[in-house]
Amino acid sequence: MSTQTDTAVDSSKQESKRILTGIKPTGIPHLGNYVGAIRPAIQSIQNSDDEAFFFLADYHGIIGCYDPAVIHESTKIIAATWIACGLDPERVTFYRQSDVPEIPELAWILNCSCAKGLMNRAHAYKAAVDINTEKADVDPDQGINMGLFGYPVLMAADILMFNATHVPVGRDQVQHIEMARDIAGTFNHRYKPLFTLPSAVVDEDIPLLTGLDGRKMSKSYGNTIPLFGDPNPQVSPEKQMHKAIMKIVTNSQLPAEPKDPDDSALFEIYKAFATPAEIIDMRDQYAAGIGWGDAKQALFDKINSEIAPFRARYEALMANPKELEEILQMGAEKARRHSRKQLDKTRRAIGIRPLAKLK
Ligand code: TRP
Repeated sequence: MSTQTDTAVDSSKQESKRILTGIKPTGIPHLGNYVGAIRPAIQSIQNSDDEAFFFLADYHGIIGCYDPAVIHESTKIIAATWIACGLDPERVTFYRQSDVPEIPELAWILNCSCAKGLMNRAHAYKAAVDINTEKADVDPDQGINMGLFGYPVLMAADILMFNATHVPVGRDQVQHIEMARDIAGTFNHRYKPLFTLPSAVVDEDIPLLTGLDGRKMSKSYGNTIPLFGDPNPQVSPEKQMHKAIMKIVTNSQLPAEPKDPDDSALFEIYKAFATPAEIIDMRDQYAAGIGWGDAKQALFDKINSEIAPFRARYEALMANPKELEEILQMGAEKARRHSRKQLDKTRRAIGIRPLAKLK
């Protein structure tokens, strides 16, 4: 497959795909992350010949998380999770952003091709400002660091460094991809067409899971079902998952009362794991008045049948961080074969190069 590195191309017009996506290592992966990001990303790679770059965006992680232990531990947990769930590090270039020093270097260069006004319009920054302006006597930029403000530039560097054509992201990230296109366009026009304009890929079919309390499953609501359990040696990951599922809120309908599956978080999560035939069967069981306890047990069995085979690999990687580190170093080496060249071309394009050849 050929990738264009010297000429800028619009990715939407390119046939060969180079897929790239970043994962922020801040927190413990939950079922919503699995269904919404991990499973679809791994499956889409398994079923195609596309080139793929997946990385842990730890320099993005430190923007909003000042706890070194959390950054360190979640990098380990998230790397182990993706590999345990089937990411093949031979097939995918899988690396840690901070192991590729060319990325922050490129980010600086791109900062100089990025209008400040473009960043003023970023949703995440504007939302933080809005919260401040609602309060009396608070500076609009209070608590906002330059990392948050410039977040889209680092993200542009992540993407443009590898001339990614397709970037799978959640809907909240689409604006960042548009900004990367904008920054690439400015650079290409001003200097040399070095950067491919990437396209965001948003999967419309991906279910958004409801959490334990009926709201959207999200780390910030504390209502999640952890994928491999919280690291807690006293209770097995399987028991932790069972316990969490038993806590999902339901209405107070009694066993034998017919129930509306479309009004039930249990059924919604079940749908994300079951085959079409199993979904039809479960609908019938709701209509026939399955008790909530039994519906929860059925949900646990379904999820567990998919996750249980991954647990041994997960536990082994968590117990042996050396293996994980080796995998990440191999990925960084593969990534740097591209990034060294791309940064070199970029520096030359802007006029930064040796004054003379030294013997
Ligand atoms: N900003 C993304 C998120 O919060 C993570 C990310 C960082 C990313 N760099 C990226 C995603 C590059 C895609 C491409 O989810």
